[in-house]
Amino acid sequence: MPAITSSAPGKTILTGEHAVVYGYPAIAVPLPDVQARVHILANPKGISGEVFIDAPAIQLQSMLNDLDASHPFRILLDIISQEFGLEKLPACSIKITSSIPLASGLGSGAAVSIAIIRGVSSFLGHPLPDEKVNAIAYEIEKIYHGIPSGIDNSVITYRRPVYFKKGDLIEFLNLKSPLNLVVANTGIMAETREIVEEIHTAVEQEADKYHNLFRRISRITDESRHFLEEGELTKLGRALTENHHLLQELGVSSPELDQLVDVALREGALGAKLSGAGRGGNMIALVTEDVQDAILRSLKENGAVNAFSSVVSV
Ligand code: PMV
Repeated sequence: MPAITSSAPGKTILTGEHAVVYGYPAIAVPLPDVQARVHILANPKGISGEVFIDAPAIQLQSMLNDLDASHPFRILLDIISQEFGLEKLPACSIKITSSIPLASGLGSGAAVSIAIIRGVSSFLGHPLPDEKVNAIAYEIEKIYHGIPSGIDNSVITYRRPVYFKKGDLIEFLNLKSPLNLVVANTGIMAETREIVEEIHTAVEQEADKYHNLFRRISRITDESRHFLEEGELTKLGRALTENHHLLQELGVSSPELDQLVDVALREGALGAKLSGAGRGGNMIALVTEDVQDAILRSLKENGAVNAFSSVVSV
């Protein structure tokens, strides 16, 4: 069996995070500038079931069978084996690397799952179709997120901008113009699962208040869809900033995220917001090319531990 390499991009949510968990729409785009990669090498001398996992980013070096039965990698590889009617995978080593920051709202967990599904199914000689890849990745998202909407696995599987509503068919968006984004990391890791659970409790206690907020967010998402399809980037920028203000009201921003949003806007971004679950992780700014470098520099000088620019192509 030859060596196999596979990859999956990061993602960012343009509008609608959190609301999307409750059936409201959200828009997400792939971020190909950051990637999860998987390299699989057959071990012809090993016996069936001897699978070695090497994931330096999470300090994991272990035989698959030595991982706890509840470990997401173990569950994922079991699901893939079942999919192929195999009791055990052929002996191999699976190396997982990623340039997507962990627990930072850029889809690192989903990207790693998807790169593994694509890599292992190719290794077994039958690359799985996107629908299957997406469905399996969603099962693993439940372990990472508790009650995930499914937007992360969808945008990363299909590598296209999506308008996503839980339970509906995924709609792919055709952008009229490319988007120049600057992505800046607060350096604070935040567990999506915990934040989503906290919001869930709050929604149960004060349903009217939160659904009212989600409806306002969903109006922004629908307007943003129109702005994306018409190439109205100035209006899109304003919508993103408005979405940030509603996420502040929801209680998922943080002083560090607010600071990065302020810096980006002050330096001339069309709009800026936190992206993903919030509290930490990343901020995104929609920018024009002429101010992109200045914004990037200023973010790094004013609190971002890392920042990069990314173009979402049409
Ligand atoms: O994984 P994150 O941090 O990008 O969060 C995903 C977005 C949420 O709406 C908060 C959760 C979800 O499952 O949609």
